[in-house]
Amino acid sequence: MFALALFAYVATASAYVWPSPKLDALEAQRWDQDDTISGVASFVQPCSFFNFGPADGSETGRANGPDWIRTAYHDMATHNGDDGTGGLDASIRFEEEQSRPENAGTGFQNTLAVFVSFTSRHVSMADMIAIGAITAIENCNGPQIAFRGGRVDADAPNPPGVPEPEQDLSSHIASFARQGFTQTEMISLIACGHSFGGVEHKPFPQIVPELNEANNSLSVAHFDTTFSVFDNNVATEYIAGTTQNPLVVGANDTTNSDKRIFASDNNATMLSFAKSPDLFASTCATMFARMLDTVPSGVELTDVIDPLPIKPASVALVLDGDKLKFSGLVRLFNDTADRTVQILLDDRNGSTTTATLANDHSSSAMGGRVQSTWYAFNGTSNDDGTPGALSLDPAAGITRMRFTVDGKLEDQGGVGFAVQDGVVFSRSSCLTVAPADGGDGSGSDSPIAGRFDIAVRNGVNPARVFLEQEVQDSVNRTVVKETDVPPPAQPAAASASSYSIWSIDLKDTNRYTIGAEIDGAQFSTIDTHSLTDLAPCEGAKRRRRRLEHKRKSHGYGGA
Ligand code: HEM
Ligand SMILES: *[C@@H]1O[C@H](CO)[C@@H](O)[C@H](O)[C@H]1NC(C)=O
Ligand SMILES: *[C@@H]1O[C@H](CO)[C@@H](O)[C@H](O)[C@H]1NC(C)=O
Ligand SMILES: *[C@@H]1O[C@H](CO)[C@@H](O)[C@H](O)[C@H]1NC(C)=O
Ligand SMILES: *[C@@H]1O[C@H](CO)[C@@H](O)[C@H](O)[C@H]1NC(C)=O
Ligand SMILES: *[C@@H]1O[C@H](CO)[C@@H](O)[C@H](O)[C@H]1NC(C)=O
Ligand SMILES: *[C@@H]1O[C@H](CO)[C@@H](O)[C@H](O)[C@H]1NC(C)=O
Ligand SMILES: *[C@@H]1O[C@H](CO)[C@@H](O)[C@H](O)[C@H]1NC(C)=O
Repeated sequence: MFALALFAYVATASAYVWPSPKLDALEAQRWDQDDTISGVASFVQPCSFFNFGPADGSETGRANGPDWIRTAYHDMATHNGDDGTGGLDASIRFEEEQSRPENAGTGFQNTLAVFVSFTSRHVSMADMIAIGAITAIENCNGPQIAFRGGRVDADAPNPPGVPEPEQDLSSHIASFARQGFTQTEMISLIACGHSFGGVEHKPFPQIVPELNEANNSLSVAHFDTTFSVFDNNVATEYIAGTTQNPLVVGANDTTNSDKRIFASDNNATMLSFAKSPDLFASTCATMFARMLDTVPSGVELTDVIDPLPIKPASVALVLDGDKLKFSGLVRLFNDTADRTVQILLDDRNGSTTTATLANDHSSSAMGGRVQSTWYAFNGTSNDDGTPGALSLDPAAGITRMRFTVDGKLEDQGGVGFAVQDGVVFSRSSCLTVAPADGGDGSGSDSPIAGRFDIAVRNGVNPARVFLEQEVQDSVNRTVVKETDVPPPAQPAAASASSYSIWSIDLKDTNRYTIGAEIDGAQFSTIDTHSLTDLAPCEGAKRRRRRLEHKRKSHGYGGA
């Protein structure tokens, strides 16, 4: 227990201590912006990229990034500071909100269609909306924005409350006050947002006519000349009197809301932004963070999530015959130097094994201002293309990793990077009915059945072992569905006698992590598994080839 208290103390002194499944997932989404494992930035690279409309790219004038920023604002703008309702809670995903006149246009459904595949039990849609806005802004020349996680997706739409261009100045001041912003903050936040994008003809024909421009088929009148990147041109062009912002110079003054709002302090705020790009950037960093952190009362956000300098990822520990196979990567944040990276594997016997890691790939964030390098625990792939692994003795097991980078020890202030070897997937898992397509999962109609084997370390005695599947609840929030794995009536020894096998029969192609309750604590594996990854059982092969030989297989692989 003393060790645990010390652990907590260290955690507040540094960023946080790995592993922490929710923070690990949020940190990855926020900082590995264009990494193949997690990043959403490929949808805003280049910043003018728009992946909707016909495949020939014939719809021009819009971009994904501005839609993501507008989505974050419109989701937040229903916040009511008086009763604590509304805020950034992904209530914009409800059809009832999207069909309101205050949410005209297709930008919200486009945005959510991209983000949904990045959500998980750890990353809510509301957190993803915040991360998407941050990624778009940072990737497109904008300032670094502090990110906190922990937003909770609403279970119902919020009352209306997004400002509209035809409302008068006093309505807008009152609306932003309800959202938690002063008049000056209103001017700032709108100028920051309207550094991107513009007003499209189709949803706003009363503001923007058909433009008949060759490279602007959607007739979008942009807020400034550099509409797909962040800069203070929205202010310099406004002050210079050259602006084409359709909410300033629109033919009908009733809908010129930016004109009324920008001039409402005699242009003092816009003048300061026009004079200083740095002031504009730093003000926008603060205002965007305030916007994204406006959440319903009762929602507790995490501390600002700073990147871990040394971070393991994709870590998998599985029992494979008479070996434990350990694979994964470690990220050196914002470091492109060619380093010598070693992993130190501490086992249950108090011994340490060392291996040298191989440079695997690099990734970037903030439009290339952050560059990270990833090293693989074993850089040699298996024949089937899966990542190579380090082989460990099951009897000795593993308790934690440490790393050295050019000889310098990285161990999270002494605690190391904990690895649990109590309950792991066993490669003796196999298919009893292989689908007709050969098991790549594409033949979803063809029957599949198989057996998951879970290896439970002798002496660990879990209260429960279960499979975890991420599913959507009735309002599309990701929740975890648990399926208990029954303890074996007579524990069958795995070929490596340090583990016993618990088995469950399955008939689906879902991906599962393995959960367990040990000594009152619950954990999940990081690695996921599916029947579609498995080879036919020994017995299944024989049954198909030699039907007379009906022997039930208990072949647990290995030996
Ligand atoms: C009085 C307040 C506001 C009014 C009346 C207003 C009005 C509008 C209108 C009419 C559009 C055109 C939408 C379309 O054609 O799809 C628009 C676009 C946009 N707004 Fe605002 N807005 C306001 C505040 C904000 C704020 C506070 C932000 C963010 C901080 C923001 C960010 C954006 C962005 C990024 C776009 C471009 C969307 C795109 O090009 O797809 N707006 N706004
Ligand atoms: C269209 O092309 C002109 C001239 O190259 C450019 O200034 C303008 O920004 C482009 N508009 C769009 C919507 O790409
Ligand atoms: C839930 O997801 C389904 C399928 O993508 C979609 O049709 C529906 O509109 C979504 N509803 C909400 C509230 O997100
Ligand atoms: C100007 O816009 C307002 C609000 O949309 C509308 O009621 C009014 O009829 C418009 N005026 C003209 C001259 O089109
Ligand atoms: C604010 O600046 C705009 C653009 O230069 C100008 O047209 C307007 O008269 C100014 N308004 C005030 C109140 O200074
Ligand atoms: C990343 O590294 C660059 C170059 O060393 C540095 O200028 C920048 O501040 C770093 N960024 C972050 C977010 O740590
Ligand atoms: C790395 O993986 C390859 C492919 O599975 C294997 O042949 C090799 O022995 C492994 N190397 C180490 C150091 O474990
Ligand atoms: C670790 O300890 C176990 C149990 O004492 C023993 O069986 C095993 O041989 C030891 N393994 C190593 C690698 O020292």
